[in-house]
Amino acid sequence: MILVVGATGQVGTAVVRKLVADGRPARAFVRRTSNYQHLQGLGVELAFGDLRDPASLDAACQGAEAVIATANAIVPQGPSSFAAVEGKGYQDLIAACQKHSVQQFIFLSVPVTPHDSAVPSFRYKRLNEERLQASGLNCTILRASLFMDCWFAFIGSTIPARGAEAPTIERQYWFLELFMKGVGNLIPGAGAALIPGNAQVRHAFIAADDVASALVNAIGHPAAARAILEIGGPEVLSWQQVAGIYGQALGRKVRTVYAPGSVFRVMRAAMSPFSEAASDIMGLNWLVSYSTPYAGRKTAAALGVRLTSADAFIRSKVGLAAGS
Ligand SMILES: NC(=O)c1ccc[n+]([C@@H]2O[C@H](COP(=O)([O-])OP(=O)(O)OC[C@H]3O[C@@H](n4cnc5c(N)ncnc54)[C@H](OP(=O)(O)O)[C@@H]3O)[C@@H](O)[C@H]2O)c1
Repeated sequence: MILVVGATGQVGTAVVRKLVADGRPARAFVRRTSNYQHLQGLGVELAFGDLRDPASLDAACQGAEAVIATANAIVPQGPSSFAAVEGKGYQDLIAACQKHSVQQFIFLSVPVTPHDSAVPSFRYKRLNEERLQASGLNCTILRASLFMDCWFAFIGSTIPARGAEAPTIERQYWFLELFMKGVGNLIPGAGAALIPGNAQVRHAFIAADDVASALVNAIGHPAAARAILEIGGPEVLSWQQVAGIYGQALGRKVRTVYAPGSVFRVMRAAMSPFSEAASDIMGLNWLVSYSTPYAGRKTAAALGVRLTSADAFIRSKVGLAAGS
């Protein structure tokens, strides 16, 4: 039995789908308040609970051979905090895995940046990596580069969400909704991409679906045992190149407008007293103003993941009808 914690999210949903396709017994950890309807009828077990409810974690881990954890507090649905969800919640999840002798804990993490400690979502990823390594569990830490599904959207388009079952960018959180309302039509409508950072920044953008494949393929894989693996997409691209790919797929010129990382750093600090999650989102924009040029192919090859190129990703989405 594979337990998926974060099963209603974008990556978690794709993980569940892949487990079902592989014929592996899966258990989806979902909150009663979650939008989990799309997971019903797939033949997966639903374990109701919350990372903030230790008893529900204990029950969910019983009989689990591996846990894939993608749950996070970045785009909250209802009252939430990083300390409760990614702090205490993951501590309790790790303890439940120890108690029930779970054979492998596969954790979706983030790249290392120079300012991890200043942004809660990155700070807690580093903390949970440390906890896992100290836990004695056989843990796989998968540090993924920027998701095309999110970052190709944040720069000015809702196109990346087309065809996705549970896109993160469509989660109902006031600040994200406001942000996407403001930028969502910039690329197709105005031919402008709003970029965090500068023209020198480059990333190995990866499709969320490929990250899900890597997480599933890591189950029981010798290359993933007690390992920290970095994974990115097949190419390391500048934002200028991403804008060019959009332009070709849409048949229009797309120019880049750069907002320096320092702008987001200041907005992160200004929002911090009012909203932890909104401040964190600004912090993420600051952190991605540093390059993450992962050599994605090595981990992908080791785990047998065929990586999607940015061109193929954008063209496939542009080919789908809006709202699909
Ligand atoms: N976006 C990127 O570029 C990128 C790059 C590298 C790594 N990552 C990491 O990848 C992960 C993102 O995965 P994703 O896109 O699938 O996230 P997502 O779509 O935002 O989904 C979040 C999941 O966490 C669950 N969750 C939140 N609070 C919970 C709680 N208290 N108890 C139980 N479950 C809870 C949510 O459940 P509900 O639906 O009930 O709220 C949902 O299933 C993050 O950890 C992120 O840091 C992202």
